[in-house]
Amino acid sequence: MRYGIQGKHIVLGVSGGIAAYKSAELLRLMVKQEALVRVMMTENAGRFVGPMTFEALSNQRVCQTLFESSDEAAVQHIYWAQEADAVVIAPATANIIGKVAGGIADDALSTFMLAVTCPVLICPAMNTHMYENPAVQRNLETLKTYGHAILTPEAGELACGTTGPGRLPDPPFILDTLRTLLTPKDFTGRNVLVTAGPTREALDPVRFITNPSTGKMGYAIARAAAMRGARVTLVSGPTTLAPPHDVTPIRVTNAAEMADAVLALMDDQHVIIKTAAVSDFRPAHISDLKVKKQEAQLDLRLERTQDILKTVGERKKKEQFLVGFAAETHDLDTYATRKLETKHLDMIVGNLVNTPDSGFSADTNRAVFYFRDGTREAVDVMPKADMGHVLLDRIAVRLQRETASLDK
Ligand SMILES: Cc1cc2nc3c(=O)[nH]c(=O)nc-3n(C[C@H](O)[C@H](O)[C@H](O)COP(=O)(O)O)c2cc1C
Repeated sequence: MRYGIQGKHIVLGVSGGIAAYKSAELLRLMVKQEALVRVMMTENAGRFVGPMTFEALSNQRVCQTLFESSDEAAVQHIYWAQEADAVVIAPATANIIGKVAGGIADDALSTFMLAVTCPVLICPAMNTHMYENPAVQRNLETLKTYGHAILTPEAGELACGTTGPGRLPDPPFILDTLRTLLTPKDFTGRNVLVTAGPTREALDPVRFITNPSTGKMGYAIARAAAMRGARVTLVSGPTTLAPPHDVTPIRVTNAAEMADAVLALMDDQHVIIKTAAVSDFRPAHISDLKVKKQEAQLDLRLERTQDILKTVGERKKKEQFLVGFAAETHDLDTYATRKLETKHLDMIVGNLVNTPDSGFSADTNRAVFYFRDGTREAVDVMPKADMGHVLLDRIAVRLQRETASLDK
């Protein structure tokens, strides 16, 4: 995929800190995502984790010294720097941070860093007092002026016994940050509102009506939009998912709360993507006390909830882009295009929810995109994270067209 690290040349720099063991896991995750990773480690890193571990995981020779014996390796540091799409130094010791900031080139990794021109992610990890030392802080500020991204270390109990900032974040988080760094920022300056998950309509204090939505698709879109530079607000019904770290989450429970949140926020949005499975009905009466089971039969009267998508469609300004989702069990074309029209949408994503690789709880999705201009695009099965990006690709093209026509 264009937005992953698949096929990208990545150099993993490892320096001599206690967290070097986490680099092996980071390498494994990158290789699993089909990145072409090479490891460049300092001599001191070898005291914590042997090069053999990295060679086995990357299936590539590790570069540890500048003066390797083989001819092919003689200018390895230059060759690797030219070829790299990204460099991540994890963990980055106070020493390597100081050397890179100061332009010192006295070993393979520091010399290599002088030749690098691609995006760089530095992941400092050290004792809290070392991290807070003015020299280290000044060096980190200097690295930022070179355009390098710095991953803020986590706070907590460190291996050395102190408590405070200095811990290397877990490998999946480092990988996520790297992916964000490599993603084009084509949504910078855009406000994107995403709704996700189910709603719960209370019947009594212990029961509610809901649906099987997990929120996975909406959360994936919110994450993808944030990766692409958008300011993202995620209005979510109850789910077990943790909101992506760089979006503003708003938790709601029922359709009325979701309507309030969306309608209050909609005017400030450039793009509104409504993936939430909002209940169409709610109990007409909510019992204050738990309904007891002595009755042989319980008649439940339901009333309509507000049609949020329709309301947003009616109120939206011309330049706002509104996307709806249609989850159907049959006749997708008919229902999706009807919804596109009646709710004044710019685009609708149609899903058949009765197949195992698409719909509610699946990690993948298969969809058909329908646009206001009458065009239709079938999108084959893919992870929801990737589908989020494909959806944003299509929106980006249309926003650009819209901006161009408004400029005329
Ligand atoms: C057991 C042990 C753990 C260390 N952990 C760290 C660390 O987490 N972060 C750090 O900046 N330095 C740490 N150091 C100090 C570095 O290893 C030392 O500064 C070394 O010169 C770094 O070399 P390098 O940057 O070339 O790998 C540690 C040293 C020892 C002995």
